[in-house]
Amino acid sequence: DGFPAPRLFSQGVSYTYDDVIFLPGYIGFPADAVDLSTRLSRRIPLSIPCVASPMDTVSEAAMAAAMASLGAAAVVHCNTEPHLQASIVRAAKSRRLPFVSSVPLFSPASTPSLSDFAGHDYGLVTERGDSLSKLVGVAVAAETSSRQAPLPVSEYMRPAPRSVSASFDFEQAAAFLADEGLDYAPLVSDDGEVIDLITVNDVERIRSYPKLGKPSLGADGKFVVAASIGTREDDKRRLEQLVKAGANAIVVDSSQGNSIYQIDMIKYAKKMYPEVDLIGGNVVTIAQAQNLVASGVDGLRVGMGSGSICTTQEVCAVGRGQNYLRKLEKITGLRVADVFKVGTVFYVFLKKFMGVVQSERKATAVYKVASYAKDHNVPVIADGGISNSGHIVKALSLGASTVMMGSFLAGSHEAPGTYEYKDGHRVKKYRGMGSLEAMTKGSDARYLGDTLKLKVAQGVVGAVADKGSVLRFIPYTMQAVKQGFQDLGASSLQSAHELLRSETIKLEVRTGAAQVEGGIHGLVSYEKKAF
Ligand code: XMP
Repeated sequence: DGFPAPRLFSQGVSYTYDDVIFLPGYIGFPADAVDLSTRLSRRIPLSIPCVASPMDTVSEAAMAAAMASLGAAAVVHCNTEPHLQASIVRAAKSRRLPFVSSVPLFSPASTPSLSDFAGHDYGLVTERGDSLSKLVGVAVAAETSSRQAPLPVSEYMRPAPRSVSASFDFEQAAAFLADEGLDYAPLVSDDGEVIDLITVNDVERIRSYPKLGKPSLGADGKFVVAASIGTREDDKRRLEQLVKAGANAIVVDSSQGNSIYQIDMIKYAKKMYPEVDLIGGNVVTIAQAQNLVASGVDGLRVGMGSGSICTTQEVCAVGRGQNYLRKLEKITGLRVADVFKVGTVFYVFLKKFMGVVQSERKATAVYKVASYAKDHNVPVIADGGISNSGHIVKALSLGASTVMMGSFLAGSHEAPGTYEYKDGHRVKKYRGMGSLEAMTKGSDARYLGDTLKLKVAQGVVGAVADKGSVLRFIPYTMQAVKQGFQDLGASSLQSAHELLRSETIKLEVRTGAAQVEGGIHGLVSYEKKAF
């Protein structure tokens, strides 16, 4: 009954996650007993199998801290100056709280206006107006002078209250505020560096979310944070700064990882920084994976052109099926026409190359690469194309150790950028790192376009609907993944991988009609609300 994976995936057809369906197994344990712990790379354990993409609309300090506090991880993008990327890594690693509020800092002589508070209720006043000088007071946005000649902040700031140590975790910091009867307290490192501000509002917000599990902590006792680099010569300097900032893993970010540039970079990084795990990619075939494994990678990132904003398969005619998506339309919950009205969008380009928006894609890459990588003890990250918990169950059961998500996490509270309203929807920008807009900022190296005079986009710019905090929706998503594993009869990722290998897990291909039947159908209308 059904096909074992080796048979299904050896027929010369490239399947997407939606093309295949697992047959149910035997349930012998409760869903809560399913263990989702895994590894990001050879030496980095995670409690849940989620990784945030190295994209400039997904992973900066707030996402990295939130993901690590959930037991997951984020890869800080490299579409910025090396020292700024390193400071993002440092900012995420400098605390044990599940959030980063990036409080504004002022010098005593400054005269901030309301807009300088950037929506924050408070700002911190330090001797020099930066985080490295002594804290002298707190500026309250509501008390900011609105007179013609504004007062220096030192004239009306409040005295600095007692500080919370940055090494406090959430419960310790919450207890401190309650015990001291404070509405807010500055977060300060052991070296006296001003890091952030925690308020009772933050405490209440986090308390309303599901309880946090075991955070991802590195050997240094700090949050696990990964960061990406390119393969240019000057990325060696970037690498050095990231390692100094404490990055636990480095992802060599390339859309086609099987290149002399990447292999040279992997060898260099392994020799210079043997203590840091190196993740290579992207790959979709065993031959590509073999080259990177031989170079010494500690993890492999799998996927090419299957991401929601990718046009690589259309533009370059290479890649391999991973997922079926009605691309942005499906993930945003907005009509494509609405999505692309937002921001700077190369709509003409899009229409030309992105039959994608209306079309469906095929995939098999995760199973093929993972079946090879398993024998070499190299964890696989299934990258891109995740738009629901079912896709996560499929990616993991087909051999991946984690899933990497862009659009699924974009639009969240923790994603960089600000919300804007478009046609009644609250949205945040989400853009491909191969979009012209992102490449103009420097990410062209990912597409080996750095030396080319003519840049050809391999991605698009769009927007995704507000999803709230990842601290809230990732736990719900993981609960759904546990239920999927329970249905399969797999009590852990390892057990799922063994069941796949022993050909106990069986699959079938779904016809178009079966896919329609498997989705919501037959209703006149329904409200699409994931969480
Ligand atoms: P999702 O589907 O999660 O995909 O939004 C995120 C992944 O997509 C890749 N990525 C791109 N691929 N052009 C591409 O072909 C792009 O502009 C682009 N930007 C990101 C990347 O692997 C990411 O993790």
